[in-house]
Amino acid sequence: MSSSQPHPTPRPLAASKSGPLAGRVRVPGDKSISHRALIFGALATGVTRITGLLEAEDVLNTGKALDALGAPVERADGAWQVTGRGVGGLREPEGPLDFGNSGTGARLMLGVIACHPISVRLIGDASLSKRPMARVLGPLKQMGLEVGEDRDRLPLSVRGSSHLVPITYELPVPSAQVKSAVLLAGLGAAGETTVIESEATRDHTERMLRFFGADVRTSEMDGKRHITIAGDAELKGCAVTVPGDPSSAAFIVVAALIVPGSEVIIEGVLTNPTRTGLYETLREMGGDIAFLNQREEGGEPVADIRVRSSRMRGVTVPAARAPSMIDEYPVLAVAAAYAQGKTRMEGLAELKVKESDRLAATVAGLVANGVAAKAEGDVLIVEGGGVVPGGGTVTTHLDHRMAMSFLVLGLCAQAPVTVDDTTMVATSFPGFTALMESLGATFTEPGGP
Ligand code: S3P
Repeated sequence: MSSSQPHPTPRPLAASKSGPLAGRVRVPGDKSISHRALIFGALATGVTRITGLLEAEDVLNTGKALDALGAPVERADGAWQVTGRGVGGLREPEGPLDFGNSGTGARLMLGVIACHPISVRLIGDASLSKRPMARVLGPLKQMGLEVGEDRDRLPLSVRGSSHLVPITYELPVPSAQVKSAVLLAGLGAAGETTVIESEATRDHTERMLRFFGADVRTSEMDGKRHITIAGDAELKGCAVTVPGDPSSAAFIVVAALIVPGSEVIIEGVLTNPTRTGLYETLREMGGDIAFLNQREEGGEPVADIRVRSSRMRGVTVPAARAPSMIDEYPVLAVAAAYAQGKTRMEGLAELKVKESDRLAATVAGLVANGVAAKAEGDVLIVEGGGVVPGGGTVTTHLDHRMAMSFLVLGLCAQAPVTVDDTTMVATSFPGFTALMESLGATFTEPGGP
């Protein structure tokens, strides 16, 4: 088998002009934290109990991979339980590990495999098999990972080692996945491994590794962040609570901002500052967004987000903000279409290598629905006018966030907006359409009654 199961039959859906959205909801658990909770649990000794885990395909594929590597992952009493094997204690799987649509799963697990003397074949779906892997293979090879193929894409066969060499590695791209893969491999190296980042990316790996008892130090030098992990690490199983995913809440927030008369509260959302660039930007655009009941849960800041529909204006979003909102640009572009004036989003090179080329796909989706949008190099420009004609069909390219973003676009458009496939929504946000409908959104199956 060289790639994962064929993609299921596409399920198109149309979104139409809806009445005010109202209600109090919770979104599923944060995807980044869910992957990490499972992985660190498997690398710890003892049992890790996870509540609020995102039960979506991307995360469940990571769970299945850990299970196949000898760390049982089970659902028990409404929570998830991982029986850890300790760093270095995972065993060779019998078959290939299938990461489906998930770049995070594949890249973080490459770091895990690197510090075990096992051979593993990694496969993924058509979207994942197009995404660059050299960004993690480069540093991991320096540490001692052997890679069977001379290629930058899955499927790949790799062999890890129990004698990894610690390295100091400066990230060439702002990527939390690359940072995390190197730190994970560093857990099993003999000595200290350091990752240097010039732009702060999401820091869940550092926070959670500390929570599991690893020796992780961070410092600022010459405007760069240095993150050092001590090798031969011992992690201890613990209880993890996963907060709501701000990248999923983003769709509801933008929907409530653009549909007149809306007021929605989303409870228990992660507000880690390395993830809240979208919220900062929407506020600058005039969005009425409040973080209520701010608190800390399991080492991460959390709040209830209240959002009210707002008249918004275009802004320039600086490149420096991109890592803190990298998954949110498609839905920000939707908000920009309803704002008055031009929104300029700078420094979006990384958007081209996500589940799809989101820069091109966002422009195409907006243009298909009568919104003036263009990409100039790595800059996305949307000319808002307050009115969106709609009526177009959007190609989602196996990308969950493209599907959800353009369904949001349709909620206030003059004519319905159709997305060609919603099956991938299950990779990150199971129950998305039902939750939106409970708030008042109107979706119809094209060709249906
Ligand atoms: C993630 C990091 C980001 C993000 C992805 C999740 C993570 O990718 O796009 O959805 O959990 O570390 P990059 O690190 O490649 O930017």
